[in-house]
Amino acid sequence: MNRGDAFWLLVHTAFGERENGAGESDGDVLALPLSADQFADVSTLVPATCEPYLVMDRFCLALPWNNDHLRQETLNGFFRWLGRDYERFIEVPRNIENIAVLVELLGLTPPAVIADFGCGSGLAYSICSMVGYSIVGIDTCPVMRELASARGMRTFSPVDFSTTDIVLDGVISSYVLHFGLEELSVSLCWSRLRRGGVFVANVHKAQGLERALAQFTHLKGRVLSVGLRAGMERHGIYLQVEKL
Ligand SMILES: C[S@@+](CC[C@H](N)C(=O)[O-])C[C@H]1O[C@@H](n2cnc3c(N)ncnc32)[C@H](O)[C@@H]1O
Repeated sequence: MNRGDAFWLLVHTAFGERENGAGESDGDVLALPLSADQFADVSTLVPATCEPYLVMDRFCLALPWNNDHLRQETLNGFFRWLGRDYERFIEVPRNIENIAVLVELLGLTPPAVIADFGCGSGLAYSICSMVGYSIVGIDTCPVMRELASARGMRTFSPVDFSTTDIVLDGVISSYVLHFGLEELSVSLCWSRLRRGGVFVANVHKAQGLERALAQFTHLKGRVLSVGLRAGMERHGIYLQVEKL
């Protein structure tokens, strides 16, 4: 089935088995196709310990409330399953506009070294490299890393990145923190940021803002600003956090 023709519920296999060959399975997640009517009432299909999380207009992720590890595995499974179709389901110009705002908020001068945390398919690569920044991509999803590498971006998993000797002047993160990530990968990226370096991100619809702020507090980051940007409200709340 073409993914664009259906609505989908993605559930971690910890919450159920694939029945009668229904849906698709990719490692940790089951992808169950739904009709438009089922999708309109999708919260009734989500396990009680999960929140229904709607993305890209046709996917509902069942994200566990109280289990960060399973939550992250569900996200990883979703992006691996979506893989090469990713850019078909986003508005590419919208993400590019947001990335440009994030780079501006960093306020760095080329040839600064920037990481794109949750780089996805590498849309930030040309924006940053064209003006002379050195940019690396960090992403948990191997399929996304492959797409970004094909654009020319040097990419790493969060764990591999933490073992490099790359020192970052700044980090951008576009349309990532609203998913409510496991803290580990944020902290691995943060560990390579120099003192005085800034992590900037948008938090779409302000979802997951409290979680993100708690994580940066835990990492002893100093919050420089949290708020909307005039004319850029559709991207959500912008966050700037400095490493002390
Ligand atoms: C909506 S996409 C955004 C991609 C890109 N930044 C953009 O604006 O097009 C979210 C990305 O975050 C990645 N991601 C999810 N959890 C992550 C984590 N814990 N650490 C790093 N990347 C993660 C996903 O694999 C996916 O590529």
